[in-house]
Amino acid sequence: MSERLVTMLSTETIAARVKELGAQITRDYAGRSLVLVGVLKGSFIFAADLARQIDLPLRIDFLGVRSYGEGTESTGVVQIVNDLSKPIEGEDVILVEDIVDTGLTVAHLMDLFRTRRPASVKVCSLLHKPARARVSVNIDYLGFTIEDKFVVGYGLDFAEKYRNLPYVGVIERS
Ligand code: IMP
Ligand code: MG
Repeated sequence: MSERLVTMLSTETIAARVKELGAQITRDYAGRSLVLVGVLKGSFIFAADLARQIDLPLRIDFLGVRSYGEGTESTGVVQIVNDLSKPIEGEDVILVEDIVDTGLTVAHLMDLFRTRRPASVKVCSLLHKPARARVSVNIDYLGFTIEDKFVVGYGLDFAEKYRNLPYVGVIERS
């Protein structure tokens, strides 16, 4: 069985959209400062690119979660493997995700964050797969809505592989 990658979102398409999201966030939070919280590992590339498109004072932090085993189905259990380095009390926070699939991870993280009393929390996700939603989550800043295919690249993995692809692709087996 051979595997090949088919491009879904090119490097240029992603860069243009990330620039727009950064500009929108810059406008919406004008005069304020922000904390971007990247959800590891999947959002590390998106968070790095997005941060450079936001023209505001900001702090960046990361939260390590594990919601999948080696497979491609959500277990529904979200485990925090690495917590934030500083409190977010009183801060304007944007949670930066690679993809909202079932929605379970973001829903869980929003509940957790609210207990820490930030001034506000919004969600920014590069991708959304609405076909697989199990809980409804509000995505304040969304890059792209995609069809129900398992995607890799630009931070997203399949069993830890392909995170370094500079575009988002679909694995096709034949
Ligand atoms: P959710 O909890 O089902 O919304 O998904 C949470 C996590 O599953 C995301 O942050 C991704 O890391 C991973 N995930 C979901 N769909 C995909 C995919 O198509 N490719 C790679 N990872 C995915
Ligand atoms: Mg992930």
